[in-house]
Amino acid sequence: MDFYRSHVLVCGGTGCTSSGSETLIDTFNEEIKKHELEHEVKIVKTGCFGLCEVGPIVIVYPEGAFYAHIKKENVATIVEEHLLKGRIVDNLLYEDAKDDDRVRSLDEVDFYKKQKRVALRNCGVIDPENIVEYIGYDGYKALGKVLTTMSREDVIDEIKKSGLRGRGGGGFPTGIKWGFAYKATGDEKYVVCNADEGDPGAFMDRSVLEGDPHSVLEAMAIAGYAIGARQGYIYVRAEYPIAVKRLEIAIEQARKYELLGDDIFGTGFSFDVEIRLGAGAFVCGEETALLNSIEGKRGMPRPRPPFPANEGLWGKPTLLNNVETYANIVPIILNGSDWFSSIGTEKSKGTKVFALGGKINNTGLVEIPMGTTLKEIIYEIGGGIPNEKAFKAVQTGGPSGGCIPAKNLDTPIDYDNLIALGSMMGSGGMIVMDEDNCMVDIARFFLDFTVDESCGKCPPCRIGTKRMLQILDKITSGKGELEDINRLEELAKNIKESALCGLGQTAPNPVLSTLRHFKNEYIAHVVDKTCPAGVCKELLAYHIDENLCKKCGICAKKCPADCIDGVKGKEVFKIDRDKCVKCGACMEACPFNAISKK
Ligand SMILES: Cc1cc2nc3c(=O)[nH]c(=O)nc-3n(C[C@H](O)[C@H](O)[C@H](O)COP(=O)(O)O)c2cc1C
Ligand code: SF4
Ligand code: SF4
Ligand code: SF4
Ligand code: FES
Repeated sequence: MDFYRSHVLVCGGTGCTSSGSETLIDTFNEEIKKHELEHEVKIVKTGCFGLCEVGPIVIVYPEGAFYAHIKKENVATIVEEHLLKGRIVDNLLYEDAKDDDRVRSLDEVDFYKKQKRVALRNCGVIDPENIVEYIGYDGYKALGKVLTTMSREDVIDEIKKSGLRGRGGGGFPTGIKWGFAYKATGDEKYVVCNADEGDPGAFMDRSVLEGDPHSVLEAMAIAGYAIGARQGYIYVRAEYPIAVKRLEIAIEQARKYELLGDDIFGTGFSFDVEIRLGAGAFVCGEETALLNSIEGKRGMPRPRPPFPANEGLWGKPTLLNNVETYANIVPIILNGSDWFSSIGTEKSKGTKVFALGGKINNTGLVEIPMGTTLKEIIYEIGGGIPNEKAFKAVQTGGPSGGCIPAKNLDTPIDYDNLIALGSMMGSGGMIVMDEDNCMVDIARFFLDFTVDESCGKCPPCRIGTKRMLQILDKITSGKGELEDINRLEELAKNIKESALCGLGQTAPNPVLSTLRHFKNEYIAHVVDKTCPAGVCKELLAYHIDENLCKKCGICAKKCPADCIDGVKGKEVFKIDRDKCVKCGACMEACPFNAISKK
C-alpha cells in the first residue's frame, strides 16, 4: 500500500462538478506529475462537502486547508506553494460569509460547527468510486457483525430501540416497518431503496448516493438479512447521472469483493442489488407508485392497505426505505442503538439532513441533530440572509409542507414540532424566504408544481388542486374577492381528506400554512389590490419619486416600452402606467434609487 504525505480532496458532487471540478482534478494530476509528486501527493475525488455555495471546493490534508471557489488557474499555485513549499495559500482559503475572517480548516468554519454527520459521515471524506476507501472507514463491518453475531430478530430490535424514523417524509418508525416485513409470509421478499427525490430544491439523497453509495448497499444487505430477502432494488431518477454511475461502480465492486452475491462472508446468506431508473415524476416517489414503476407499469399509486410490507413488488412482501434512512443503519449497528438514541429529541432520534437554499448566505447540505432550532440553522449554519434583508419565513417539506414564520424561529426541529406549526419535515428541503418574497406567490408556486405532477387517478387531486390554482391565479392577478379565501380553505380541507395518495393529501399544505401565518398578505391582495412584497406583477405599478429624481434621463433610455417621459436636466421624469410592461429595467438602471414598485 502506498503512503502519501498529502491528500488533496476535490469535491466531485453535482454542484462542484457543474462548476468545473473535473477539470480541476485533471489539472492537479498534470501539475503533480510535472513536479514529480505522484508518489507523495494523492488527488481524491470525493462526494459533496456540504458548503456547495463556495464550490468548487478543494481540501488539502494533513493541514485541512479549505480552499473555496477554486479555478483551473489556481491549481498551479496550490501545488507550487502548498504542496511543494508547505505554505498555505491564504488568498484562496474560504472566506467566512459573515465576518470576512480567513478560516483555515473545516473545524473552524461556522457552517460545520453545529452539524453532526451521521448519514453524511463519509461524504466529502472518501473516494466513492473506491470500495477500499469505504472499507478503510469500517465499511461492511456492520454487515459482517450482523451476519456472524446477530439473529434477524436482534437486528430488528436494535433498529427499533434506536428510535430511527423514516427520512423519506412520513417519519414512520423504521424498526417497526422492518418487523412487519420480517413477519410477512412469502416465498420471496424484496428490499427497495427509494432514491426518487422529487421535491424541488432537495438533493440530500443524491448527495449520499454520490458521496457514499456503499453505505446504502451495506444497509440494504443488512435489511435483506433481517427480513429474509435476497434481492434489492434501488429506484433512482435518471436525472441523477453521477449518482447512478457511482452506484453502478459500487455494486460491481461489492460483487467483486463478494460483499454482494451468493454466500456473503461464507455465512450462507445471499443478497444482490439492481438499479431501476425512474423518469422523474414526483408521484413515482410515493411508495406504491414506485413499486408499480419497478414492475414496468405506469407509476400510479395503489390504495393502501395492503401495505408494501405485506404485498409489495409482484405481490410479495417488500421493505421500502429512503436513502437517508438506509444511510443511518450502519452507524446504528456499529455504535449501538443507545448511541443513536442519545442524539436528538424524545420522539425524533438521530440527525436530519437538509438541503438549505433560497435567501441564505450558505446554500448547501447540512446535517444537524434533531432538536437544533430553525434559528441555529438559518443564522449560525446558514450564515443569515444576504444583503441585510429581513427574514420572512422558511419553507420545509417541499410541496407537502408549509411555511414557518419568524416568530417560530426558536422551534427545535423534529417531526412533531414541524407538524404542529402546519409544516412538516418531509424529505429535507428547506427554503429560506426574505421580505421580498410574496407568500401568496410561494403557495401558488408549490400548487402549480402539484397540479403538474398529479397523476390524475382521483378527482379531488386532479380537479380540486387545479381549482385551487385558479383561485390563487385570480388573487395574485388582483381579481380576487374575500369569499375566494374561504373557498380556498374549504377546498384545501376537502382535498386533504379525500385524495387517494399522499401527493393529493398534502398538496393543500403550502396554501393552508400561508393562510394560517400570512393571511394579511392574502387580504392585501384581495382587498387593497396590492402585493406587499412587490412580486405579483399584475398588482404592481412603478413610480418615480419627484424628490429623488435628478432628471438624468437614464431610465427613459433603458425603458423597452418607451413609456418614460421627461426633459433631461429640466423636468422630473414620469412613467405612463398604461404602456408600462413592468419589466423593472428602469428601477435597476436609476442611479439615484428614485424608482420604486408598489
Ligand atoms: C407524492 C409523494 C412523493 C414521495 N417522494 C418520495 C421520495 O422521493 N423519496 C422517498 O424516500 N420517499 C418519498 N415519499 C414517501 C414514500 O412514499 C415512503 O413513505 C418512503 O420512501 C418510505 O421510506 P422511509 O420509511 O424510509 O421514509 C413520497 C411520498 C409521496 C406521497
Ligand atoms: S392524490 Fe393525486 S397523485 Fe395521488 S392518486 Fe390521486 S390524482 Fe394521483
Ligand atoms: S434614472 Fe432616476 S434620476 Fe434619472 S430620470 Fe430616471 S428616475 Fe430620475
Ligand atoms: S418597468 Fe419597464 S416598461 Fe415600465 S417604465 Fe420601467 S422600464 Fe419602462
Ligand atoms: S457539490 Fe461540492 S460542496 Fe456540494
